[in-house]
Amino acid sequence: MADDDAALEIPQLYKYHAFGCMTQRPPSHPRGSCGALGAQPLWERLAKTLETQRLAEVGFTAAGCFGFCSAGPLLVVYPEGIWYRPTTAADIDEIVEQHFKQGKRVDRLVMVLQR
Ligand code: FES
Repeated sequence: MADDDAALEIPQLYKYHAFGCMTQRPPSHPRGSCGALGAQPLWERLAKTLETQRLAEVGFTAAGCFGFCSAGPLLVVYPEGIWYRPTTAADIDEIVEQHFKQGKRVDRLVMVLQR
């Protein structure tokens, strides 16, 4: 095996990997931010729920700005690449129960991109 191939041998740790935007701008900032829209307590709930329910196959990573700041808080879930916009603790619980445990997208929380 060549050295370049070694990087490809990393085992897949997660069935799902969620990225939550943690960017915080002042409330008066013209771009807005997920942080100003209440992201932090939501991601804390998600991380705690994954831990307490021992959902080790679901990873959560705090991320920077995804570029759709006024639409936040934004949570992107792979491998599907689904963009969720949860706003309440109940929304987080629904994503955990329906998406991560049952493998079903939570349609009502999907952020729809318009072209
Ligand atoms: S601040 Fe979250 S997408 Fe930009």
